[in-house]
Order: sequence, then C-alpha cells, then structure tokens
Amino acid sequence: MCGIVGYTGFRQAHPILIEGLKRLEYRGYDSAGVAIQVNGHLEVVKRAGRISVLESNLRPDTLLGTCGISHTRWATHGAPNDVNAHPHLDATGRIALVHNGIIENYQALRTYLEHRGVEFKSDTDTEVLVQLVGHFYRDDLEAAVRAALRDVRGTYGIAVICSDEPGKIVAARKGSPLIIGIGDGEFVVASDAAAIIQHMTQVIYLSDGEMATVWDDGFRTTTLDALPVNKEVTELELSLEDIELGGHEHFMLKEILEQPESLADGMRGRVNVADGRIHLGGLASLARELVQTKRVILTGCGTAWHAGLVGEYLFEDLARIPTEVEYASEFRYRNPVLEPGTVVIAISQSGETADTLAALREARDKGSLVLGVVNVVGSTIARETDAGVYLHVGPEIGVASTKAYLGQVLVLTMIALYMGRRKHLSQPDLLRYLSALEALPGQIRKITQQSDDIRKVADKFKDSENWLYLGRGYNYPTALEGALKLKEISYIHAEGMPAAEMKHGPIALITKDMPVVFIAPRNSHYDKVISNIEEVRARRGRVIAVATEGDTEIAKLAEHVFYVPDVPEPLQPMLTVVPLQLLAYHAAVLRGCDVDKPRNLAKSVTVE
Ligand code: M6R
Repeated sequence: MCGIVGYTGFRQAHPILIEGLKRLEYRGYDSAGVAIQVNGHLEVVKRAGRISVLESNLRPDTLLGTCGISHTRWATHGAPNDVNAHPHLDATGRIALVHNGIIENYQALRTYLEHRGVEFKSDTDTEVLVQLVGHFYRDDLEAAVRAALRDVRGTYGIAVICSDEPGKIVAARKGSPLIIGIGDGEFVVASDAAAIIQHMTQVIYLSDGEMATVWDDGFRTTTLDALPVNKEVTELELSLEDIELGGHEHFMLKEILEQPESLADGMRGRVNVADGRIHLGGLASLARELVQTKRVILTGCGTAWHAGLVGEYLFEDLARIPTEVEYASEFRYRNPVLEPGTVVIAISQSGETADTLAALREARDKGSLVLGVVNVVGSTIARETDAGVYLHVGPEIGVASTKAYLGQVLVLTMIALYMGRRKHLSQPDLLRYLSALEALPGQIRKITQQSDDIRKVADKFKDSENWLYLGRGYNYPTALEGALKLKEISYIHAEGMPAAEMKHGPIALITKDMPVVFIAPRNSHYDKVISNIEEVRARRGRVIAVATEGDTEIAKLAEHVFYVPDVPEPLQPMLTVVPLQLLAYHAAVLRGCDVDKPRNLAKSVTVE
C-alpha cells in the first residue's frame, strides 16, 4: 500500500528518499513522487508508474537540499496518474504533504475550501488535507497541521514540509503507521522500517493521535492537542540482509526457501522437547485466564484468515475449545456477540491490516481478551492487543505471503498445544507433537528439493486458466491457500474448497483440460479424498496430488504427485502448503508475471 519516506539532516535528501522508496516497492504502488526544500522553495517531481520512471525524470542539480518528503501511492481516490501522485501542494506552493490512508469527509472539506477560492488540481482526498493546512498556515507549520487534522475524519499517516521552515518535517498518524528513525543529526520519517534500517536502528513508533516534529538536530512528540508525549526509543529488529534478495531471483522464492530457518526461529525457546513443554512468554501472565477460555474467535484477512481456519481445527482438536474463524472485514460490522470467556485472536503478518485492526478494536471494546499473532514487531496490532505471540519469521517482502503463513500456523499450533496441555492433552501426546515440530524444518527443506519437478508441472499447466484445489479436514485450508497463491501472482483463476463440496456444483466445471490439485496426505480423510480423485478422473480432469512419501496408490491415480513426509495430522498443513507455494511461484514466473509486485495488490492493506 502507499509508502512514506521523509528525510532531514546533513546529507542530500533526494538519493535517500529514492532509495527509501525502493525499499517500500514491495508494498505495492502505482505512482511515486518527491518534494525537496531547495533554497527557500519546494521542488516537486511526481510520476505515474514505477520508481524507475520517477528517477529518470529527476534532475539532481535542481534537487539540492537536505530536507524532503516522498511517497509511493496506491490509488484510492482518483486514477493513478502524474497529477494525482503525491506529494501534493497547497495553493501557495509553499507546503507539500504526503499521505497514507483515506480522508472520509474530503468532499465536504473540498466544497468548503472551493467556496473560499481554493482551486484544486487533483482528484485526490489528500489534496484537500494539504489545502486545509495551507488555509490554516500562519508561519507555524505544526500549528497549521494540528488545526487541519481537527477537521478531518478518516485515517492518515502524513509527512508535511514548508518552504518557509527549512529542515522541518511535521508527521502525524491516525490509523496508518509512522516510524521516526533517529540518527546523529539526521532523521528519517517512514511508514515502514525497511526505509530506515540502512541509515539508523533507533526508532520511535508513533501511536494513533500523535504527532512528531523533527528538524535537523532534534524532535518532539505530542498529541494532536499539543500535549507533550514521551516516546520510548527502541532498537529495530531488522537487518539489511533480511530485506535484500541475497542472490535469489525473487523475494517470494527466497522466502519459500527460508522457511526451514524461519520455522526454527519461530520455535526457538518455545518448543522444548527436553523439558516436554511449550514456553510462550507473551502468554505467561495470562495462563490462568486462558484455561478458563470458553470460546475462541480467530480473525484475519486473506492468507492470515486461512491460517485461522487451520487454527480452528487445531483449537478444537488439541485444546477442545469451541472455535470460530471470522473474516475481520465482516466481524467488525456484524455486531458480534462476545460473552465473557471469549478470547479473540487477531492474526496478521504486517500488524497493520485495517480490517483486522478494526475487528480487534471491536472485540476489545466489548470486553474480550484479545491476543495477537503478528509478525512485525511493534506494529499497531501487536501494540493494541492485550498480549500475543510474535511469529519471529523475519521480514516478509514478497506480496504473496509464504513464510508468514507457516509462521502463523506454527504459532497457532503452539498456542493450541499450550492450552490443550492445561486441559486434557496428556504429557506423552504433547511430547509426540513437540518432537514432530522439531523435525519440521528439515522436512520442509526436503520438500523444496522437488522445486525443479514442480516447475515442470507448472510449465505443463501454466496456460490452463481455471484450476481447482481440493482438500479435507486440516488440508481444506491448504486448498484455499494454494488457490490464493496461484491466483494472486499468476492471474490464473483458481478456486479452493473442501473436496466434498465439489460434487455440489463445481464438478460441472471439470473437463479434460482442467487441473485439479488434491491435497491428499495419509490421514483420517485419505480414503474419502481418494474417492473424490476418482470422481474427477471419471470426468477426465487432470489430477495433481500432494501426498505422503511412499504412497504408491496415489501415484497410480494422479498425473503428478508432490511428496511430503509423514507427520501427525495436525501438523500436515505446515508441509502440504509448501509444494503449492512453489507451484504458484513457478507458474507465475513462466507466465512472465511480476511475482513480487503483482498487479493491483498491496503487501499491507491499510485501508478498508
Ligand atoms: O498483513 P496481514 O497478514 O494482515 O495481511 C492479510 C492479507 O492482506 C494477506 O495475507 C494477503 O492475502 C496476501 N496477499 C496473501 O498472500
């Protein structure tokens, strides 16, 4: 989604801004721009398209200045063109602003300003905000921003500069993340730590309703009402290596192949076979309360919602707690009934997804205990939940979530075992799961060694425009996730569903050309899935299967089989999804798609 980078200090701003924008490219965008303070005026360049297009339109000799702001825009109001790109200027051209989020009352504000003679250049909600700042400006940028924000309804992360106040950036947030990187005589204001890490590691995270004013040798943080706020300075848990390709062709492939290490990282200090326990520091203070849990609601969006579906099986099976999974976007508007004893778990890689954040706020307002299963440390969801368990799988850059999905399922498995052991799960059973968990990294590495074979299958079927993914029980969510991976990066239409549902309608689609991917490891549903495979074969569908190593029966039925090691049924989803990630990846590459930046998609969806 949109990205913000601002810089003030002693170095030339524009190379730092462009480099920062490139670090945010993975978030998805359709135009980009910069504004630099140059000798008492603002130089603004903005272009539709990639950052490379913006770069080729920059004339460095006209951009000499040590303070500026920049932006990558993901269009919400108005087409993705040069005019609608950020930064936007006020009517005097002295104030420039970049904005992430949506101004909901922009139409009313626009009418108000137009009646006072302001002429608008763009179709964006953001221009309203900068014009409003200009309207209130009386030689004090911070005061003008504060006054403008009082009239605004909606969400924002903003950075603003004024040509009359050299070296100063005013930033504010409500519902859209902003981080202030603190260096020695320099500052970076950014919506994502990836734009900061190259320059500094000390940061403060602004919370909703807070502002920061930074200048070349200092900063202050306040509320929107100008009350001072003391913010904790923290160290970024991120390295440059984490956000670079490191010799891989794409971040998605890098992240798929990283999964053995990231899963081991997620288990470190938590899964302990020697003492036969699960340690979850983030939940330790709530252990007694969690034992009393009467009902669990898991919520999230997209891939995180799929992880929640696996969680539903895990919590009911291992912890015997009634569990439901809700789309965060529906939960927030449904006026859900939340009785005492309900625990809501918000699942999110980014920790910034607007719908998931709104769902957790709804649950919290209704008195539920809210836990977070989040990857990005210090993100809004992580900070707004009562407690939680971080994924610790490292930064995920590829828009298609892979290692975060595995991390989410792993954390949900660990929480289910943790709660289960306090209820009915026996110590020998727990030990059996702990040992199986420890073996997973090596097993995933083995699965990824089939990558070349999977690519051949992807090549054979890459031109089929409709695919079905079918699974049962624990592997029904795997079917949904496999289908989502394929459609979001290769633009092939794919549907995932419980295998038994096929005969209630989708079976009508099956022809001799249709690839049908069955997730069919040896488990309690195996025989039933085999019957579903027969049904597809009877209609001459093309069967691809994910099966347990050594399964010779399935090899006779399917045209292609990808094998996964045998593990206890509740752990199967962490293995069966891996070949499907690779299948989607190879299909997308072979179709010439931009795997890491799929069209229309954003890494983190911070608007409704
Ligand atoms: O950051 P989150 O986990 O909250 O993001 C949720 C979804 O937007 C995300 O999983 C999305 O579906 C991915 N593109 C899937 O690969």
